[in-house]
Amino acid sequence: MRSVVYSRTGDPSVLRLVDRDVADPEPGEVRVRIAVSGVNPTDWKSRLGSGDGAAPPFPEVTPNQDGAGVVDAVGEGVTDLATGDRVWVFLAGHQRPTGTAQEYTNLPADRVVRLPAGTSFDIGASLGIPAMTAHRALTVSEDGPERLHAGALVGKVVLVAGGAGAVGHAAIQLARWAGATVITTVSGPAKAALTTAAGAHHVVNYRDDDASAAITKVAPDGVDLVVEVAIAANYRLNIDVVRPRASIAIYANDGGGDVKLDVRQNMIKNLRYQFVLLYTVGDAALTAAVEDITSALMDGALPVGEDAGLPLHRFPLASAADAHQAVEDGAVGKVLIDIA
Ligand SMILES: NC(=O)c1ccc[n+]([C@@H]2O[C@H](COP(=O)([O-])OP(=O)(O)OC[C@H]3O[C@@H](n4cnc5c(N)ncnc54)[C@H](OP(=O)(O)O)[C@@H]3O)[C@@H](O)[C@H]2O)c1
Repeated sequence: MRSVVYSRTGDPSVLRLVDRDVADPEPGEVRVRIAVSGVNPTDWKSRLGSGDGAAPPFPEVTPNQDGAGVVDAVGEGVTDLATGDRVWVFLAGHQRPTGTAQEYTNLPADRVVRLPAGTSFDIGASLGIPAMTAHRALTVSEDGPERLHAGALVGKVVLVAGGAGAVGHAAIQLARWAGATVITTVSGPAKAALTTAAGAHHVVNYRDDDASAAITKVAPDGVDLVVEVAIAANYRLNIDVVRPRASIAIYANDGGGDVKLDVRQNMIKNLRYQFVLLYTVGDAALTAAVEDITSALMDGALPVGEDAGLPLHRFPLASAADAHQAVEDGAVGKVLIDIA
């Protein structure tokens, strides 16, 4: 099979297209014939490592956590998946070298999820990291809900920072499906159009507008939950616009910077900060995400493509390095690698 691998960390040039044998799945694993591989920032960050060219955790690593395809073989003891099932996969390369930038990959069965009928591989390959992170961020509030379903967020106001990003897009879609009023921030008009297409009710340009005033105008009683991509940049804004006992779910600090915690301001509003990292979120949260995302898919709530606010950028497997570079350069939308 054709497989993209790296044996030392570094810039995208460390990625090599090689031929490898197709392995049989171990007990508890399934082999998936990957149709589309999804690329996320974590994939290039892992490939880059600390920047000193150190060895990756395995002699040879295939990158990319997300993907979609067809179950090709099942290992001993796997009963809930069968050959021919159309599936999406998540955390394919977490603590194993078996990412999705290759024609076949073997994964523990609990990282492989059946796609509802009619759901495309493009959607499937866009779910893992973004949708599961968004799901976690939307389900960590003190007042709930702990699970998402249509109606679960009725009466809640959700602020999605950076809604044109991949995680932000998924957060808008899931929050909207669950019935929230959705406010999002963006840096310009093109991204504003994308977030509106994704389903945001209110879009605030955080560069041009007085973001605090604009958000307070549409949410005079305050925001219930913030899905945060840039906590250092938005720390003060969040405190200004949230209601007492709101939650701020932080999954990234894009743009960098330190946060100096103003204890009194946070105390006055009884705020809750919940950090989110998918790799260590735990099995219960992963299972909840899988189940609720599957419900959202069955309702057709997670479309991708420009019309749905997430432009797709496609690369062939031989150009995996270009796909990684595109994500690193901040491609707006979703970068996908066509394998099949
Ligand atoms: N913790 C986790 O488990 C987890 C999971 C997934 C992703 N991540 C991390 O989350 C980050 C985003 O991932 P992604 O795939 O969504 O990337 P992405 O598609 O590149 O989106 C990032 C978005 O953040 C926006 N942004 C940056 N600074 C902002 C600010 N101050 N206010 C509002 N929006 C801002 C960007 O737009 P503008 O700059 O134009 O505003 C962009 O739309 C990455 O660092 C990634 O590694 C973490």
